[in-house]
Amino acid sequence: MKILLLPGGVLAALLLLILPAFYTPFAHASPSVLSEWNAPKPRHLPLLKSALQRPTSNEKQTDLWTPLDDQGWRPCDESSKPPLSLPEKSEGYLQVFLDGGLNQQRMGICDAVAVAKILNATLVIPHFEVNPVWQDSSSFMDIFDVDHFINVLKDDISIVKELPDDFSWSTREYYAIAIRATRIKMAPVHASANWYLENVSPVLQSYGYCCGFPILSPPVL
Ligand SMILES: *[C@@H]1O[C@H](CO)[C@@H](O)[C@H](O)[C@H]1NC(C)=O
Repeated sequence: MKILLLPGGVLAALLLLILPAFYTPFAHASPSVLSEWNAPKPRHLPLLKSALQRPTSNEKQTDLWTPLDDQGWRPCDESSKPPLSLPEKSEGYLQVFLDGGLNQQRMGICDAVAVAKILNATLVIPHFEVNPVWQDSSSFMDIFDVDHFINVLKDDISIVKELPDDFSWSTREYYAIAIRATRIKMAPVHASANWYLENVSPVLQSYGYCCGFPILSPPVL
């Protein structure tokens, strides 16, 4: 396992050291069988020759590294819109309980971030359900770097590690035993930002809190 962590150069050097030692005994044992190994022949010799002979002028090299035509696409960071910033006030807390495998949970996190942004909500670090297949009880903090997550998103949404004590009633069990008003109903596929504003904002405004399981289909902005 350790060898995989070595930089490429070190690995290549190691291989060079190991390879001759590895092949020499075989070469002595049966030179005819292994002669191909000793003198590998390029399969496409004419191609190789012409490639080596082709002059590479500086002009051609410059061409090679020139960015392709943008075809009208623009990087999103060159948007003419003013940069988004944190809302003046949070509308409340958004909590999500995510099940499924790591990839599903990752998508659930992305959805939750987008929805928190749309709603001006404060996102609570997502809660991962115990995975029923692998019995994996890893939490968000076990898998992801929480401080990094909070920090990279600090200009977009507020994130807290835990709900304030006022909401300590809001546990997984609370939602398991009854239908609760603070639970967001599943969004339709391709729900627009307006769907969230119309359906989830009122819950957030009434309770200062809402919750999704997992949340929602990806919002289309
Ligand atoms: C979110 O905050 C922005 C800026 O403070 C405000 O313009 C917008 O109306 C707010 N949206 C909601 C859903 O509260």
